[in-house]
Amino acid sequence: MTAHKSGDPTTLNRLYGRAKGKPLRAGQQGLVDNLLPRIAVPLEGPVTSEILFGDDRPMHFEIGFGGGEHMAGRADMLPNHGFIGAEPFINGVAQALTHVAGDNGAGTPLGNVRIHHGDALEVLARIPDDSLSFLYLLHPDPWPKARHAKRRMMNDGPVDMFAAKLKPGGEFRFGTDHAVYVRHALMVMQRHTDQFEWLCDKPQDFQVRPGGWPETRYENKARTVYGHEVWYFRYRRK
Ligand SMILES: C[S@@+](CC[C@H](N)C(=O)[O-])C[C@H]1O[C@@H](n2cnc3c(N)ncnc32)[C@H](O)[C@@H]1O
Repeated sequence: MTAHKSGDPTTLNRLYGRAKGKPLRAGQQGLVDNLLPRIAVPLEGPVTSEILFGDDRPMHFEIGFGGGEHMAGRADMLPNHGFIGAEPFINGVAQALTHVAGDNGAGTPLGNVRIHHGDALEVLARIPDDSLSFLYLLHPDPWPKARHAKRRMMNDGPVDMFAAKLKPGGEFRFGTDHAVYVRHALMVMQRHTDQFEWLCDKPQDFQVRPGGWPETRYENKARTVYGHEVWYFRYRRK
């Protein structure tokens, strides 16, 4: 597997999930209309720290942030870092905007988050190689049927792109509560050992949530409602 080469984004389409759910509440619609345009990732051109944040701060990217709890939690922890999140599901974007706005709009907004309402791989392709300090993929849609395996975000094309976009020493964090997906993901990552080192010495390293890894509502529900185990993986870009 060749490192440092971005995949062709046209062959990397992973946009299969739903884009819309329940109608947005008035407050959420207000944030989509007023806050989102102010913090949206530009729709074309390169995506760099300079362009988004006006300086060369460390950049984090979250693929499919869902309701945005993890992204906003990390951004709050690291106010001098820049966070980019992409999510095609508008209800998720609206939810994330409430976290970015702080206390549903009544608090102090997080100034270090930029959002793309759409496909993560389209934005990732526009980030120059060797730029990201952290990349997050948490509970990706499982596509559990074998005939849908190509739709999974964790596949050789996207993983090559993750490797290309991370700086050497940067970190790729992946989490899932899905037994089929975890086996698939480990198999894929096993093919990318020239690019990634799995930061794992003992089972607790993937069984216990690492520090600095805020829980999302989705993860909480997986654990408490469905009784799922959750697995956490940290990979360092070589
Ligand atoms: C199971 S949810 C998990 C959400 C969140 N990561 C969490 O852990 O709470 C998977 C999310 O990935 C999003 N997704 C699917 N395909 C995507 C793509 N190509 N780019 C960005 N997000 C995507 C879905 O819309 C959905 O919100």
